[in-house]
Amino acid sequence: MNENWTPASWRAKPAKHMPADYPDLEALTRVEQTLRGMPPLVFAGEARRLKGLLADVSEGRAFLLQGGDCAESFKEFAADNIRDTFRLILQMAVVLTFAGGKPVVKVGRMAGQFAKPRSAATETIGDQTLPSYRGDIINGMEFTPEARTPDPQRLIQAYSQSASTLNLLRAFAGGGYADLHNVHRWTLGFVADSPQGARYREMAEKISETLMFMEAIGVTPESQPALHQVEFFTSHEALLLNLEEAMTRVDSTSGQWYDTSAHLVWIGERTRDLGGAHVEFFRGIKNPIGVKCGPTMEADDILRLAEVLSPSNEAGRLTLYGRFGHDKIDKRLPGLLRATKAAGLKVVWAIDPMHGNTLTADNGYKTRPFERILSEVKSFVEICKAEGMHPGGVHLEMTGQNVTECTGGARQVSEGDLADRYHTHCDPRLNSEQALELAFLVAEKLKVERGDAAARAAAI
Ligand code: TRP
Ligand code: MN
Repeated sequence: MNENWTPASWRAKPAKHMPADYPDLEALTRVEQTLRGMPPLVFAGEARRLKGLLADVSEGRAFLLQGGDCAESFKEFAADNIRDTFRLILQMAVVLTFAGGKPVVKVGRMAGQFAKPRSAATETIGDQTLPSYRGDIINGMEFTPEARTPDPQRLIQAYSQSASTLNLLRAFAGGGYADLHNVHRWTLGFVADSPQGARYREMAEKISETLMFMEAIGVTPESQPALHQVEFFTSHEALLLNLEEAMTRVDSTSGQWYDTSAHLVWIGERTRDLGGAHVEFFRGIKNPIGVKCGPTMEADDILRLAEVLSPSNEAGRLTLYGRFGHDKIDKRLPGLLRATKAAGLKVVWAIDPMHGNTLTADNGYKTRPFERILSEVKSFVEICKAEGMHPGGVHLEMTGQNVTECTGGARQVSEGDLADRYHTHCDPRLNSEQALELAFLVAEKLKVERGDAAARAAAI
């Protein structure tokens, strides 16, 4: 099977973007040992279930919605924040399910999304140079030598925060909070308040009518428990391989290795080299996995990565997230789609419209214009359609909070507004209104595509 692979075999390969400057390496080893003894956060059976749902996505029968913070933080950790992001994902899911006419697979970028790759190892302010901030799981954000020194205890705190986040998510998903009628009621509130509400009202009203009709014919949460609960999965970029290794366990049912830190883990754009430690680690775990594909990804790179990461070409195993930028996707995506299609690869193609659309505002804030994000998603849908492929899903950085980090949207957040509520620990996130707006606008697009398909079918 996985020849010469062990959960630790990545250690013999070059590992990028992992901190090597822990002052006390023995303390780090002790923490890894502690984590090895901690209960798994997710079960192998759940990861297999997600893989099955992603297989549906890869075959065009479902849609993937994945979203959450760029980086979770210790400071923003609060039940309300978890609830609000969860609620937002569900609201978006209802709109997308309705418009696309397909189930939406709901995946949070939550309960483990802590570590960040940084372009520079150090940061200089004035005449002081300190290690870069790499996420709360490694060091602190304040610009002091104490905060910036990597502390292994942070791995334990991140594990504990992930466990309680997941606990709450499980309760919300199964305990009635996710009831379809509830979720839609919140969306009606959004539509009533939004300056662009008129644009979304028609679809929202159609959903209301559909729910009323279902109720009238006896399809109620009492008769159909599925209306009352959702399946919700977690994911993060598996950057810190020492942590992932410690969470990787043999599943007693299948005898296979699963990374039990999340249902789905992905490899970032900066760590996807074929000979590197991350690809080595990922090839041995059986979870569904993802790879980010930036503008420098060539068709050949994808084919070689797929050979290593998904040698049996199992549908649902591999999700590819394009993240090119609104002005580059037209040039980069078609060739990649054609290559995976011609090779018969059973992958999910999804779009991350965040990371290729970041810019620095005149006042120094890192931001992302809503229009560019929307434009990359729309191009994605159009290009997939032109290539005869399924636009499998979206991967977003967003929060249920009312932050001002991305410009634009119905409230027209301006560069001058960014200072008001700029709370992110890393990249700018869509706020809840912007994210829900995006869902409505993408839904419009999906409806048009679906309409076309129906029209074509009718013509035959
Ligand atoms: N369980 C179904 C699903 O996940 C229906 C459902 C219930 C739902 N609550 C939801 C769908 C909230 C989206 C959002 O698709
Ligand atoms: Mn990010």
